[in-house]
Amino acid sequence: MSDRRITSHPILPIPAPVPVTFTWQGRALQGQAGEMLSAALFANGVRTFGRHPKNGSPQGIFCANGQCAQCTVIVNGLPVKACMTALEPGMVVEPLDGLPALPEAAAAKAFAPVETVAVNCLIIGAGPAGLSAAVELGKLGIQTLIVDDKDRPGGKLVLQTHRFFGSVNACYAGTRGIDIATRLAGDVARYPSVTTWLNSTAIGVFSDGKVGVVRDGREYVLITPRVLLVATGAREKSLTFKGNTLPGVYGAGAFQTLVNRDLVRAAERLFIVGGGNVGLIAGYHALQAGIEVVGLVEALPECGGYNVHRDKLVRMGVPIYTSHTVVSANGTDGVESVTIAAVDDKWRAVLGTERSFACDTLLIAVGLDPVNEFYHKAREFGVTAFAAGDADEVAEASAAMFSGKIRGLEIARTLGHAVGEVPPDWVRTAEILRSRPGAVTHETVPSGGGMFPVLHCSQEIPCNPCTSVCEQGSIFIDEGDIRHVPDYIAEQLGHECIGCEKCVNICPGLAITLVDMRKGEDVALVTIPYEFDKGAVHPGDVVTVVDTAGEVLGNVEVARVRAGKATDRTVLLKVRAPVEIATRIAGLRMQEPSVSDPLAHYVERLEDDVIVCRCEQVTMGEIKAVIQAGVRDVNEIKALTRAGMGACGSKTCGSLIMRAFRECGVPLDEVTANVPRPLFIEVPLGVFAGAQD
Ligand code: FES
Repeated sequence: MSDRRITSHPILPIPAPVPVTFTWQGRALQGQAGEMLSAALFANGVRTFGRHPKNGSPQGIFCANGQCAQCTVIVNGLPVKACMTALEPGMVVEPLDGLPALPEAAAAKAFAPVETVAVNCLIIGAGPAGLSAAVELGKLGIQTLIVDDKDRPGGKLVLQTHRFFGSVNACYAGTRGIDIATRLAGDVARYPSVTTWLNSTAIGVFSDGKVGVVRDGREYVLITPRVLLVATGAREKSLTFKGNTLPGVYGAGAFQTLVNRDLVRAAERLFIVGGGNVGLIAGYHALQAGIEVVGLVEALPECGGYNVHRDKLVRMGVPIYTSHTVVSANGTDGVESVTIAAVDDKWRAVLGTERSFACDTLLIAVGLDPVNEFYHKAREFGVTAFAAGDADEVAEASAAMFSGKIRGLEIARTLGHAVGEVPPDWVRTAEILRSRPGAVTHETVPSGGGMFPVLHCSQEIPCNPCTSVCEQGSIFIDEGDIRHVPDYIAEQLGHECIGCEKCVNICPGLAITLVDMRKGEDVALVTIPYEFDKGAVHPGDVVTVVDTAGEVLGNVEVARVRAGKATDRTVLLKVRAPVEIATRIAGLRMQEPSVSDPLAHYVERLEDDVIVCRCEQVTMGEIKAVIQAGVRDVNEIKALTRAGMGACGSKTCGSLIMRAFRECGVPLDEVTANVPRPLFIEVPLGVFAGAQD
């Protein structure tokens, strides 16, 4: 196997490889049975999947989620999306250079009638919201069908190696996302009234109230639901800058898919654009996979994600450049460097502040848009429809779970079940879980000696696992509003810390340490959570410890390494440290500062290739020209420039076209929006006629 595979990971199990052979441009390559073709190609070092028919520009993966068509390749003569096509032995795979051509048909196809299925509730999406809704419906015995385009349930949960924030009672807080996915899927499987179709893509809602689903990639089924729940999640927003479509520029979700689902080391050196939770978490996941994270830019003066996520990255040695933007991704056939610059108060790059960094991958994590086209069409066509999770409002997965639970109850009521109103405490919990990070208040650092936890957690976010594991009840958050910062109240209670380390272990932000000053005047023992290779640190090793802001406090000796079933893949390192720094220690430096050194000179990309529509390679300049000529209708822009006419159906460029209007000074209320029409996903035409293989 290629060395681009991840062969060990601190959190994820590595399955035994089942090698299969396929060909790429006539060359025999090895992949693994059942993995997506995109993963097999990446693992073999292939990042350019084809050339665009308009200008020959290299095309690579962008969403890894079936939403765009950038990863299209030719398999056995037919175009397919590499990210949605499972590898099979003997596949003959070619790049899509230009437009695909239909192969000669050996014989006329046979056709079968299209099946029609009636269900009480159809749920599109087996992510946290869809599964949580299905559990509520299953409890009531309501006939429910879930369809999902992936090969396993869980949605984006299957990419999340970190423990979840939120409420322990409401949404499995303190449990890793990958494990929540397994639990939710297990819960759903207990209810016989709920059926799940995996590898099944919903492609549109039609005016007769039917929902078209392509099952297993080939069988077309029309579903007639009494109620439709759209739990389709969110798609990543795109960004315009020079070189923005080079292979190696892709969404953070795509990166997490390649790394955490497909176990492919998708980059050597990574740069991230966007300091929301998605970008911050992607950086952490990259470090866990052994990938260097060169830096992260955020245009705002502060990162929008949780401070504890930001602090994890900073502690490990990743610089965060706030009030900065990406100027260009540079390279010929793929990313070789990125150039960033400071921004002024109008978000313009400030000349003279440019810096370039060598990297092979640039992640775009600038926010998410709800995948809500199914919901809007359903409503337009009079179908009784609900939306849950990110398809309703983009928020954390914990909020998605709870919103699914509420929709489940609402759907049951709509179907005539006497379930009553949604309890007010559910509504309140949903509101809390949806909330954005709040004020930064205080860290809890007990004074005096003895043994105590230090809560390096100073921002109001919905999270309470630390309170649930303290057997003494010494960590307090008002259960009425778990957004409050935790307080250590042992002294008020007359309790003493027993040193169980459970709070250190469970904190999703890795923001709790345990300080033990009982051994002497000068030296304290400090327990630090660590989610990296436990085999890489041993008692007696010297490690560099840092404070919350990543400032180096010194080099200290490891006294103990604790990892076992009870710590659930978190390693608890105990270090011996001078008492003066003991309470400030928040983590270990993981990456050498030299990784983030800028290049000696900044790289200027001369080509003015700021692309808005990737599918049709339409530039910002072309779109602004028609806006400046007076066009105010997005549909007309499509007709004139082809922007939005591509395979993804405008899912990637839609919001960027609206941005072009804003940048031209056109108020959006003067703009006629794009009219989305089914199909929302590309489908081989023969599928509609029930074409048989
Ligand atoms: S990016 Fe796909 S249609 Fe524009």
